[in-house]
Amino acid sequence: MNINKFDEAYYTRYYGDRKTRVAEPIYFNNLARYLGAYTRFLGLKVQSIVDLGCGVGTLKLPLLGRFPKATYTGVDISQYACAKFGWECAAVSEYCSPEKFDLVVCHDVIQYLNDKEAKAAIKNFDSLCQGILYFSVLTEEDYVENCDQSRTDSAVNLRTVDWYRPKLQRYFRNLGGGVYLSRDCEIAIYALEHLD
Ligand SMILES: C[S@@+](CC[C@H](N)C(=O)[O-])C[C@H]1O[C@@H](n2cnc3c(N)ncnc32)[C@H](O)[C@@H]1O
Repeated sequence: MNINKFDEAYYTRYYGDRKTRVAEPIYFNNLARYLGAYTRFLGLKVQSIVDLGCGVGTLKLPLLGRFPKATYTGVDISQYACAKFGWECAAVSEYCSPEKFDLVVCHDVIQYLNDKEAKAAIKNFDSLCQGILYFSVLTEEDYVENCDQSRTDSAVNLRTVDWYRPKLQRYFRNLGGGVYLSRDCEIAIYALEHLD
């Protein structure tokens, strides 16, 4: 992957220009509302958030709106985005922190990584997370069946759902809706409310 592709033109196309952008701001607001509601329902106090591959920071203000007392750390590999928005510049598979986070977010990033990096990134989610992971990725199935291909970057590594599931399952319990609970987090989840 040529990381220089994540430049101003990339972000304008996929996040700025209304005619080509991949999602509207309301989508990110609704996602943050959902995460706020679900973590509260679980009784998980979110005091720290890391957003891995945060791009232009679509989720920063929506998340801080829902978790006003939490710290937000944005991490990205794009030199352009880090310089412009002040994120920590690192690869999602390598970013490390002395303290674990209550909420780890990785939205629409891992399809840019090769298999080895993607596997390392999922392992790194475990190193960084002491509560909930919100994970969303474009899979092979989504590219064919679910996404708007005219607005979606196809120069990515499409992997199947079956590729991702066991790797996530090793470290997290799948609560559905992209929410994963760290296996180290001692919150009781009723049997029918998790998928593995
Ligand atoms: C499709 S954008 C998603 C941005 C943001 N997560 C969102 O949903 O609005 C992909 C982002 O992943 C970043 N990225 C790609 N490979 C990365 C890597 N190995 N480590 C960290 N960030 C990466 C890119 O720089 C880009 O900002």
